Amino acid sequence: MRLLLLFSLLAGAAATNPGDLAVLRDLRKSLTNGDVLGWPDDDDACAWPHVSCDQLGRVDNLDLKGLDLAGKLPPSFPNLGALKGLSLQNNRLSGPLPSFRGMATLEHVYLNDNAFDSIPPDFFHGLSGLLFFSLRNNKFLNASSGGWTLSDDIAASSPQLQFLQLDNCSLVGAIPDSLGKMSSLQNLTLTYNSLVGPIPSSFNGSALQNLELNNQQGETKLSGPLDVVATMTSLQTLWLHGNQFSGPIPDDIAACAALATLRLSNNMLVGLVPPGLAAIPHLTEVWLDNNKFLGPVPALKTANFTFSGNGFCADKSGVACSPEVTALLQFLAQVEYPATLLSTWTGNNPCSTWLGVTCNDGHVTLLNLPDLGLNGTISQSLGNLTNLSNVKLKGNHLTGRVPDSLTKLASLKELDLSMNDLSGPLPHFSRTVKVNVAGNLNFNNPAPDPDTTTPSNDASPHPATTPNTPGHPVSPPATPETGTEKKHSSAVVLATTIPVALSVVALISVGAVFLCRERAPKPPHTASVVVHPRDSSDPDNLAKIVVVTNGSNSGTSQGNTNSGGSSGVFADVQMYEAPNFRIAVQVLRGATKNFAQENVLGRGGFGVVYKGELHDGTMIAVKRMESAVVSNKALDEFQAEIAVLTKVRHRNLVSILGYSTEGIERLLVYEYMPNGALSKHLFHWKQYELEPLSWKKRLNIALDVARGMEYLHNLGHQRFIHRDLKSANILLGDDFRAKVADFGLMRDAPDGNLSVATRLAGTFGYLAPEYAVTGKISTKSDVFSFGVVLMELITGMTAIDENRVEEETRYLASWFCVIGKDQDKLRAAIDPALELTDETFESICVIAELAGHCTAREPSQRPEMEHAVNLLVPMVEKWRPLSDDAEDYLGIDLHLPLLQMVKSWQDAEGSLADGSILSLEDSKGSIPARPAGFAESFTSADGR
Ligand SMILES: *[C@@H]1O[C@H](CO)[C@@H](O)[C@H](O)[C@H]1NC(C)=O
Ligand SMILES: *[C@@H]1O[C@H](CO)[C@@H](O)[C@H](O)[C@H]1NC(C)=O
Ligand SMILES: *[C@@H]1O[C@H](CO)[C@@H](O)[C@H](O)[C@H]1NC(C)=O
Ligand SMILES: *[C@@H]1O[C@H](CO)[C@@H](O)[C@H](O)[C@H]1NC(C)=O
Ligand SMILES: *[C@@H]1O[C@H](CO)[C@@H](O)[C@H](O)[C@H]1NC(C)=O
Repeated sequence: MRLLLLFSLLAGAAATNPGDLAVLRDLRKSLTNGDVLGWPDDDDACAWPHVSCDQLGRVDNLDLKGLDLAGKLPPSFPNLGALKGLSLQNNRLSGPLPSFRGMATLEHVYLNDNAFDSIPPDFFHGLSGLLFFSLRNNKFLNASSGGWTLSDDIAASSPQLQFLQLDNCSLVGAIPDSLGKMSSLQNLTLTYNSLVGPIPSSFNGSALQNLELNNQQGETKLSGPLDVVATMTSLQTLWLHGNQFSGPIPDDIAACAALATLRLSNNMLVGLVPPGLAAIPHLTEVWLDNNKFLGPVPALKTANFTFSGNGFCADKSGVACSPEVTALLQFLAQVEYPATLLSTWTGNNPCSTWLGVTCNDGHVTLLNLPDLGLNGTISQSLGNLTNLSNVKLKGNHLTGRVPDSLTKLASLKELDLSMNDLSGPLPHFSRTVKVNVAGNLNFNNPAPDPDTTTPSNDASPHPATTPNTPGHPVSPPATPETGTEKKHSSAVVLATTIPVALSVVALISVGAVFLCRERAPKPPHTASVVVHPRDSSDPDNLAKIVVVTNGSNSGTSQGNTNSGGSSGVFADVQMYEAPNFRIAVQVLRGATKNFAQENVLGRGGFGVVYKGELHDGTMIAVKRMESAVVSNKALDEFQAEIAVLTKVRHRNLVSILGYSTEGIERLLVYEYMPNGALSKHLFHWKQYELEPLSWKKRLNIALDVARGMEYLHNLGHQRFIHRDLKSANILLGDDFRAKVADFGLMRDAPDGNLSVATRLAGTFGYLAPEYAVTGKISTKSDVFSFGVVLMELITGMTAIDENRVEEETRYLASWFCVIGKDQDKLRAAIDPALELTDETFESICVIAELAGHCTAREPSQRPEMEHAVNLLVPMVEKWRPLSDDAEDYLGIDLHLPLLQMVKSWQDAEGSLADGSILSLEDSKGSIPARPAGFAESFTSADGR
């Protein structure tokens, strides 16, 4: 190199590189009319016409356009290793294109308007400098073998490509995904090929300015919906005409504010043209003709606007449709434009030929559309069909709510919505209306999560308690929404792809301490999904363990600082809209005296819990996530937690009342439990100058916890696993009745699938051995923890205490193995703070046996929570005089009253920023009527 440089300096101008010279000679020879090049026979090719060279005598540009050249490119052509510009367009070149593989210096390449007849598959490989490329009008390219497909190479190897013109060159197949990801690409032309399939979703957010996909040839053309184009906000030219695109123009098309020319004619597009189209400022050309557009012709100012051959209700732009047509087309939009109706629901007279529409005196009276497979929701707009007397929509797949606008229809007599998938509650109809909502299976349930999979729990020899059994508690409807709601709201969609690879060596030794009967652990077999950020507010949180497993990396951290490792395991947590229990941050600031130190109830890895007081004196607990841990993942988890927890309502579970997000603030609001954690009363009562808990209270607490856990384990269609049940997470109310906090951590996923992330979390001393050793988790791991809590209730000793003098007592679970059925040993272990009568001892023996049963080595040998409840109920009964506080304890409905309270308080505060208002109904601030089926869900939850 240096030598060459020196040489060229000495010589002034370098001689043509001999290799390049040879290629040019080959080229001249392989053309049938090479003479037109005017290249002399000398060696100084750099001085030839149409050729230019760099300082080193390498050919860097060949400008051979429009010379009427015929013949082929020689196979040696790619040896032009310094070529940057190549203009071969507008000739008659034919034969195979040699591979340009590896010609990394190429920047501008024009091969268009020739007659090349084949292109090798690796043609684009390694063209790393490419900026502009055109191959347009080479219609014979591989045509004899049915065309060619563009490989994904081009995107990977030419990251700077700005301009790609591949129209009319016999491309077949789908548009490659990779084209959508080319961030430099501005102009993409693929017209007049035989491409099929959709615009790939990879084009979402693409910065393309000009996209021309029009006029694909052949029977099948480009197709699918246009939704993705509304995300391509730099578009100036969008030409899609002459294809088979379907569905409506996306509602948010106005996001493409730079759009100047839009050609959509000759497709299968349907429906109302969104008003946003007319709002795009610089539209100079719009072609809409020959589709199935309906409703008013948009009011566009440009003269270059064509719209014939559609079902518009007027023939002039900007003219409104009749009110009934407007209402019916709105309905049609929400049932997603079924093909059966599209062909007849055109024009401005619904009384003419519209399928399923019957009129009387020129007004729509009957809408008769049964069994048509209609999807979507029922539009509020039907309320504008004032003469409607009869609506028959039975036997479709309609979802969402029954629009309340229908209740205002004075002539309505019959509303048959049976056999759909609608949700309640039913708005209040006058008694003269015959309403049929039979056969809407989820009418009294919240909209089901679309991802709900059959719960299973192979740790248990008994089949999991069947969800959805009659009388089973159902959670309250998620978001009471109008008929316009999309199907996905309130769905929690979780998917993880990180393979589980547990290597919990550190835990095995500890876990083994618990084992009464040593057996080889079963192989890991875990498939669960973590949904919850680690709490906790509890002060006894010193021995917390989190093992993050992420591929082959697994980390163990001990102590309080688990937050660092806990995000990052979520491969893919998608969201899910939570039902709206949003509360303004200001309100919570006020309630907690701006998160005053004096209001701190506790601290944990994820944040601080504050006591708060609402304006009417109601106490709340506010968990404030520490901003340091507010990573995106943590936010996702926060959202997931809300989505889950707002559905979980039980008198023995601490309720979430609401949440706040503003900026980096993430706050969760829980009901306040005045007497704090059970652990405080069991282990630290002297320090806090409290009365020790009586055995009667302890029994009640045990039953409360068992009921709460039973509910969690059998919640709706899912089984939730607490994962961290312990006395510090059991909170006591005024009356010393207990509620389990910090639940909803994890829900069962179908077993047998190892490719999910799992995270081991929990507290030493409470961890079930199989969970500690293999990470395998099930409801039976909670049962184990429950057993340990029972032991604590009996002994008044913490689950684990390395400082205890007698070694065998350090781990309660293993100590109880030693105690076994030895009554004397048990008697010695009982909490000295308990008054020990014969009757008490008898009762304690039963609980001790239950505790042992719950902590059995094999998960399958542990009982279900239901068993514990059944055992505890008569014992508590026996210990509770009839006059006791039992009755006013039933049927607490925390849900609406508290929310209403918070709402009224906010109203009193007034002047809250929009969107920060507590609302149950999609941030519109109104409290809906109490949903049907709501009360029942509480009674059945409580009735157990
Ligand atoms: C084009 O055809 C040639 C010869 O028939 C074949 O070798 C080549 O693989 C084809 N190119 C593509 C991109 O399919
Ligand atoms: C893309 O096309 C537009 C006109 O259609 C042109 O003005 C612009 O320069 C082109 N961009 C590139 C990178 O070629
Ligand atoms: C119609 O479109 C052409 C280009 O397609 C443009 O030059 C002209 O300005 C447009 N006319 C109007 C009135 O927008
Ligand atoms: C409803 O949706 C299903 C599934 O997407 C589809 O197969 C069916 O054609 C739709 N029904 C109508 C009437 O379009
Ligand atoms: C009913 O018609 C009125 C007046 O045309 C309109 O403002 C309103 O938006 C319509 N309601 C619905 C739900 O379409």
